[in-house]
Amino acid sequence: MPDYSRPMVIGVASGKGGVGKTTVSVSLAIALAERGLRVMVLDADLGLANAQLALGVRASFNMGHVLRGEKTLGEVLVDAAPGVRLIPGASGLRELASMDEAQVSSVIHVMDNLDEPVDCLLVDVAAGITPSVVSFIAACQRRFVVVCDQPASIADAYGLLKILTLEEGLEDVYLLPNMVNSQAHGRKLFNHMADVAQRFLGAKLGYLGSIERDDAVQAAQERYLPVSRHAPDSTAARSFRQLAGKVAALGPALKPSGRIQFLLPRMVGLPSATA
Ligand SMILES: Nc1ncnc2c1ncn2[C@@H]1O[C@H](COP(=O)(O)OP(=O)(O)OP(=O)(O)O)[C@@H](O)[C@H]1O
Ligand SMILES: [Mg+2]
Repeated sequence: MPDYSRPMVIGVASGKGGVGKTTVSVSLAIALAERGLRVMVLDADLGLANAQLALGVRASFNMGHVLRGEKTLGEVLVDAAPGVRLIPGASGLRELASMDEAQVSSVIHVMDNLDEPVDCLLVDVAAGITPSVVSFIAACQRRFVVVCDQPASIADAYGLLKILTLEEGLEDVYLLPNMVNSQAHGRKLFNHMADVAQRFLGAKLGYLGSIERDDAVQAAQERYLPVSRHAPDSTAARSFRQLAGKVAALGPALKPSGRIQFLLPRMVGLPSATA
């Protein structure tokens, strides 16, 4: 019996590459699953399937096969950890790395066929501020913008925030400082950016805590493990657990936007397209 309960859908973006989108998506997924949520990670970075590596799974099939009609969504899903399932990105498919609007819509529509119970869908998008990144993020209920305390990351995060809030009129945007020295450092970075966003974009950013720079993250990655598995007592693993507590408390948020949305049939209580 399919579960049509209302899932939470969170997009994870950053503008600049390499600031921790995949680390955040995967580690948050694990921490949410540890709280009993059924989590799905969609690797929407269809050029480089790095969520697979971060979760330590090797998938034979991916979203590319689904889009080409060769596999169903159910056939490409992989169990990545207890309570965490992954929809792998289309690794190495150059033509999918720069998706057009129609392809983005196809991915979002294909997700309606998901015949699985899901409490939280995390969408790990590509680096950059391309139209496809913006479309994916706009199709989520909430968005996390990951930022590091480096000029290039701050500039790109601001550029992304400008498009998401001022140009696209999106709400429920959270800033997630990563690789900071302490929670106080992360809070300071948030305060600075939230102040600028309020003044120049008229946007109110949400804050749910930061993730510290922690060598355990890198060490875990080298072992193809999420940090909570490799070093459950590390500072980063602890911060991800705290973040998960706050995320779980948010719950789903459906705001009719007139836009294409992930898992919309479930949100409005319709059966999935395959049911
Ligand atoms: N809190 C952290 N502490 C230490 N290292 C981190 C932390 N977060 C991420 N990293 C490291 O930074 C690198 C980039 O992280 P990640 O792959 O998650 O970034 P990304 O934004 O997904 O990159 P891309 O844009 O290529 O998709 C990785 O080597 C990861 O291990
Ligand atoms: Mg990534």
